[in-house]
Amino acid sequence: MGLLVVIVALALCAAWAQAALPNGICSYSSLAVLGPGSMRAANNFSPLSQFKGCGYAVADNAFLGLVDTSAAPRVAAEASYAFAHEAPVYLPALKQIFFVSNRLGNTSGVTQFIELNTLDISTGTVTKLPETLGNSLAMSNGATNLPGTDDSIALLTQGKGDWQPGAVNKLNLKTLKHEVLLDNYLGRQFNSPNDIAFFKDGRTLFFTDPPYGFAQNFKLQPQLGNYVYAYDTVSKIVSVAADGFVKPNGVAFSPDYKTAYVTDTGMADGTGPSGFNPANPQTIYAFDMETAKSGKSGSFFPTLRNRRTFAVAETGLPDGIRLDVQGNVYTGTGAGVEVFAPSGKRLGTVLIEGGVANLVFADKVLYALNEKRIIAVQMRVPGAKLP
Ligand SMILES: *[C@@H]1O[C@H](CO)[C@@H](O)[C@H](O)[C@H]1NC(C)=O
Repeated sequence: MGLLVVIVALALCAAWAQAALPNGICSYSSLAVLGPGSMRAANNFSPLSQFKGCGYAVADNAFLGLVDTSAAPRVAAEASYAFAHEAPVYLPALKQIFFVSNRLGNTSGVTQFIELNTLDISTGTVTKLPETLGNSLAMSNGATNLPGTDDSIALLTQGKGDWQPGAVNKLNLKTLKHEVLLDNYLGRQFNSPNDIAFFKDGRTLFFTDPPYGFAQNFKLQPQLGNYVYAYDTVSKIVSVAADGFVKPNGVAFSPDYKTAYVTDTGMADGTGPSGFNPANPQTIYAFDMETAKSGKSGSFFPTLRNRRTFAVAETGLPDGIRLDVQGNVYTGTGAGVEVFAPSGKRLGTVLIEGGVANLVFADKVLYALNEKRIIAVQMRVPGAKLP
């Protein structure tokens, strides 16, 4: 039965889908006064009725200089199941976007799994990578380009059960060879590593480690706090770079690498809508990147300082996070793709029904993972350059 589902889904993906979403423009200013009885609950992810039929909701005209609102977002690929959820990485040399599915199979226990896929952006063809690879790289969730290569990624696996630890891995998408770069914090298992970004030095990687694996029935009880880690891939030393999160999730840097952004999806405990607590963060935090040397003989060590609240999501949680070359911030939420200026000012939203978990720039196209669809949004600016 599982096999049949996969075959049907691949057949659906193979066609270069071109369906377009609505491209009408609505305004956030229409929400200023709603009146009694018109407010919605935190777990209501359906589009605001004021935005029905619109493709975009604008808060500031700067949004129109970033997103090409003359073009409707289009469906770049689709399937009959949640094949497009996390870990999107664009590899220009391969003309591919790597991405992974949501949790599939029996999500009550450790037989659940996550598929690894690629999208060829010139043909729209989706290719499912071998199941054996998905089993070795168990419960993959976050990824980014591996600096110095054009065919490899750094991939986070959350791990499974109490025997397969969460890890930072290197995966070559041409040969499918992979190796573990880091699988513990000084002897203790990570909780369930979620998202990853390299600092400008191309050697220090930062990753988030929320405890979703335990809540989602595939990991042992958390052995550590909900930290953001810094791992120096050359010295092989891992450090805690920041704490104070409920569920640290997406991580990204400004184009000048002076600012780090970390999303906190603490509002969701990972068990679905029944586990939403709106008193917990649905927040993007900004930090200064401190890059001083540690002492005279110490080596360069970038870390996160001066935490501040950057933005709160319109709907649901800010999950994945990306920046454009100008430093504007894009995050996947229950509303679609919410966009903020470097100041934190809300600029607008690309409205995508069903929400967006993670997203990635391929030059001037923003690919948004919408579970059963990948939505391509035409931009006027390219993404920030990664190291
Ligand atoms: C799903 O997994 C749980 C936990 O292992 C098990 O109790 C349950 O029977 C499984 N359900 C099905 C339909 O296989």
